[in-house]
Amino acid sequence: MSCCHADFALLETSDPGFTLGMPTFTFGAGVLAEAGDNARELGLRRVALFTDKRLAGGEHVAKVTASLRGAGVDVAVYDEVRVEPTDASLQEAARFGRDAGVDGYVSVGGGSVMDTCKAANLYATQPAEFMTYVNAPIGAGQRVPGPLKPHIACPTTSGTGSEVTGISIFTLSSLNAKTGIISRRLIPTIALIDPDVTRTLPGTVVASTGFDCMSHALESITARLWPRRLNPARGLARPVSQGANPFSDALAGQALDAVGRFLVRAVQDDGDIEARTEMMYAATLAGIAFNAAGCHLPHGLSYAVSGLARDWHVAGYPEGRTLVPHGMAVVLNNPSVWRHTAPAHPERHLSCARHLGADTRGATPDDAGEALAGRIVELMRATGMPNGLTALGFGEDDVDALATGAEPQYRVIKNAPVDIGRPELQSLFRSALRYW
Ligand SMILES: NC(=O)c1ccc[n+]([C@@H]2O[C@H](COP(=O)([O-])OP(=O)(O)OC[C@H]3O[C@@H](n4cnc5c(N)ncnc54)[C@H](O)[C@@H]3O)[C@@H](O)[C@H]2O)c1
Ligand SMILES: [Fe+2]
Repeated sequence: MSCCHADFALLETSDPGFTLGMPTFTFGAGVLAEAGDNARELGLRRVALFTDKRLAGGEHVAKVTASLRGAGVDVAVYDEVRVEPTDASLQEAARFGRDAGVDGYVSVGGGSVMDTCKAANLYATQPAEFMTYVNAPIGAGQRVPGPLKPHIACPTTSGTGSEVTGISIFTLSSLNAKTGIISRRLIPTIALIDPDVTRTLPGTVVASTGFDCMSHALESITARLWPRRLNPARGLARPVSQGANPFSDALAGQALDAVGRFLVRAVQDDGDIEARTEMMYAATLAGIAFNAAGCHLPHGLSYAVSGLARDWHVAGYPEGRTLVPHGMAVVLNNPSVWRHTAPAHPERHLSCARHLGADTRGATPDDAGEALAGRIVELMRATGMPNGLTALGFGEDDVDALATGAEPQYRVIKNAPVDIGRPELQSLFRSALRYW
């Protein structure tokens, strides 16, 4: 590796290898109709199909259900998935999985649905007290001891990449903090990625999920480099997310090319099939990349923003409760983070800016943070994103609370290319208050 990838030259302390995981995936318009054949091929006779209330009566769930039933597969539908799941909602879903007497799982929905389905499969198949598998130090972080039942994931949003990751994210209500469960065993068996689902997506959801995809790719490329990973466990103990590596670099760069060219079009015109298809593909690429490399600061900081926001509502998301869409919470910290981390790897930050479509001719390493942040601010303005944390009601007085809210996220924050303590967290939030 070191001859052609100087960044990846091994140190004496490095893990000598990296491990990649992903499902068998099929991409293309209309492939939801292949669910039945795939289930039969896996030997499934009765599946639990997870979705949310809004999608339950719609055409995507109908297509998958018809395909499964047409192939002779019995379907038990669970449509109580909570958008932005909690520990309680995951446990409720797991009870359904356990009681339904199924031999496989199908998810049709966004990240909330796919993550709930992964957790339901986990706790129904490898039962344990809930905190057993939750990431340490919040949970016990124990390894999943055996295989799960097959899971066919059908994403209906273009952002999370959850259809290809071994990650399930939820809010732990007692801490009001987001955390997750990470294991290769959670990676779905099969992903059916059908860009046709994006026809029904509101522009607000395309925008937020598109920025989630963008940030997955940016965080993959700028993560601590794989040979420099802290505490490098090897072999089967190697974590799912291992830092920036040659494979994640390639996929993340390709995802950023698509975001730079197609995100604004996909948000502004729900009839732009080319743009929406490209964003769907980019989300999968970025998902494979960040599953292997890991996220860091923008995701770590986002959880404090979504946890502490009061009275914030976005069209296209469930009404009646404050909800900061995940990708919106993530992008709000982006420009601030890149201005801070660019000196660690100016070339990588400049390359990200170029992939996103910034004109970097004549830029020096000192310009890297501004080039990337500036391009992201352009994209935020063109897609109706709020102007920094102030727009959500946060101010200078909230910076301390936001920093405290981000502290449980040190597991991801330590994947950043620079060391981060409380003063840096405060300064990052302060710089994210307003952008234009
Ligand atoms: N597991 C992972 O790897 C991973 C990665 C990133 C984010 N996440 C998590 O995923 C969750 C967010 O998922 P999301 O952004 O996909 O959104 P979501 O699943 O929360 O859905 C957002 C809204 O869009 C609606 N919707 C979904 N598909 C639609 C369609 N085709 N047409 C019309 N409406 C549709 C839903 O009903 C919901 O109201 C968060 O909890 C986040 O933390 C997980
Ligand atoms: Fe994300």
